[in-house]
Amino acid sequence: MDLESHKVIASDVVVTTTDTIRHTEVITSWLTSHKPLILCGPPGSGKTMTLSAVIDNHPEFILATLNFSSGTSPDILYKVFAQYCEIIDSPDGLIMQPTRQSYSEDKWLIIFCDEINLPAVDKYNTQRIIMFMRQLIEQGGFWRNTDNKWIRLRRIQFVGACNPPTDSGRVSLSHRFMRHTPLLMVDYPAENSLKQIYRCFNNALLKLHPNLKSHVDSLTNSMVEFYILNQQKFTVDIAPQYIYSPRELSRWIRGMYEAMEPLEVMTIEELIRLWGHEGLRLFQDRLISNIEKNWCDIKLNEVACKYFTNIDIEQVLLRPILYSNWLSKVYCFKYSV
Ligand SMILES: Nc1ncnc2c1ncn2[C@@H]1O[C@H](COP(=O)(O)OP(=O)(O)O)[C@@H](O)[C@H]1O
Ligand SMILES: [Mg+2]
Repeated sequence: MDLESHKVIASDVVVTTTDTIRHTEVITSWLTSHKPLILCGPPGSGKTMTLSAVIDNHPEFILATLNFSSGTSPDILYKVFAQYCEIIDSPDGLIMQPTRQSYSEDKWLIIFCDEINLPAVDKYNTQRIIMFMRQLIEQGGFWRNTDNKWIRLRRIQFVGACNPPTDSGRVSLSHRFMRHTPLLMVDYPAENSLKQIYRCFNNALLKLHPNLKSHVDSLTNSMVEFYILNQQKFTVDIAPQYIYSPRELSRWIRGMYEAMEPLEVMTIEELIRLWGHEGLRLFQDRLISNIEKNWCDIKLNEVACKYFTNIDIEQVLLRPILYSNWLSKVYCFKYSV
């Protein structure tokens, strides 16, 4: 893929990799056969991104996104129905379907429940909203509480995404619900997928300064390596914030974009210094102990030496690296020897 430089800060760009193609194929076939489905995987693995991208590509779907929390109750589904649906009186009884005035005849409403396993259980150990959804899927309708009439759903389907139930605050979804929904496990992209994704973003980034174009591979490989080193060294067992996902790499590049965009010219030394600065802010600032912080400092220099050859890394990455000028709001990162 070839992206324009400003696409670096857009949040809806999905770079095609074998993983994204696989996921897209599976999700599309479930969606178009109107089955409910659930994606499960660690935070930052791309569940929300993939689902949104698939649904955006299918104009026959209308998307209603709900972000579940521990306090979410069935009322939220009534609100969605009120906003997107109408009830018609047909010979077969009352039917609820996506509003015909706003949407053409054959559109399907997809209710996307993000973080679907967050709602807390009640005193009977039940997630009420999940059981309500189970009934909607299993029986195809519900009893309207104002007049006790049965309302049948038409062209409405459910999709969910969640972190593994072993993560804190999560509830294992009931098997009575899960037996209706196929489950797709999503994991972090492998190293070569990461390189592919972020090479594409870095390519776009360096379009801002074409003189640096030849460094795209060094930049990508160094970022991915530093990220993986951190991910392996620091785990959530040590501290809850030690969680590393591709979001970090996306933020790294976005941070660099913000600084590089206003600049007229940039040298490779300045690029490396900025790379180091953004990397430390992302990876070092979350660390707790000084030993860990030092490790991070040393590794950053090691990785830089490995990938940016013929450059005096010690000098270029000389600490402290301080950039911001709060008054002008312009990043300045003069590299001076
Ligand atoms: N193939 C890809 N193309 C572009 N960005 C990606 C890709 N894979 C992962 N990412 C990055 O990873 C992030 C995944 O975040 P998100 O979809 O919110 O994860 P989840 O919903 O699983 O917690 C995206 O925001 C993006 O920055
Ligand atoms: Mg998500």
